[in-house]
Amino acid sequence: MKIRNILVVTLFSMFTIACSHYEELSKNSTESKSGDDESHNPGQDCGSCHNKSGSEAALEYWWTVAGTVFKTNGTAQKSATIELWTKPGKQGTLVKRLVTDDLGNFYTDQILNFQGGVYPVLISASGELEMSSAFSGGSCNSCHNGSKEPKLTIN
Ligand code: HEC
Ligand code: HEC
Repeated sequence: MKIRNILVVTLFSMFTIACSHYEELSKNSTESKSGDDESHNPGQDCGSCHNKSGSEAALEYWWTVAGTVFKTNGTAQKSATIELWTKPGKQGTLVKRLVTDDLGNFYTDQILNFQGGVYPVLISASGELEMSSAFSGGSCNSCHNGSKEPKLTIN
């Protein structure tokens, strides 16, 4: 093989190894999907079980982001999107986009880089709501539980 061919093959392998590793991580992550009903406990603080070292829930799935979205009438908001941006007002980089399932729940166990904190945006067919302070991972319902902060609600 000519030196140039060896170089091309090497670069190509490096590239595919890097990509397949990322794809493998993404493929293995468990995440809420539109129309799914495998989750449970809507409105509860998911992290109280799932992000508690040693608990059965945490052994199964450690959610890096999780929560529940309701409609104003209290039923599940089954078709909302949650976006996490590095800057307020949907600026900077989109770190993650999640959708709610049939219980209104959203969750992922994908390892995410929250950097200095990310700004959540809640989106539905009726509009958008933005959180003006930063979130650094974990359970949205730990605050948005209806007593500390209002439940995440959008029609
Ligand atoms: C009281 C503790 C507790 C709370 C609160 C809790 N979970 Fe769980 N969760 C568990 C346990 C334990 C399991 C694993 C065993 C099972 O499936 O029941 C689990 C499993 C799951 C699964 C996998 C189901 C499957 O078998 O495919 C999902 C998805 C899930 N939880 C989502 C959530 C979300 C989202 C929240 C918050 C809205 C939440 N959980 C709140 C304890 C909890
Ligand atoms: C540490 C507590 C805390 C956590 C965790 C938290 N929030 Fe908030 N959230 C707040 C507070 C306080 C406000 C009101 C002030 C503000 O916007 O910063 C708020 C406001 C919001 C609003 C605006 C609501 C409105 O009616 O305008 C949205 C949307 C929101 N949060 C989404 C989320 C999502 C999605 C998550 C999880 C990814 C999350 N929040 C996690 C404390 C929290």
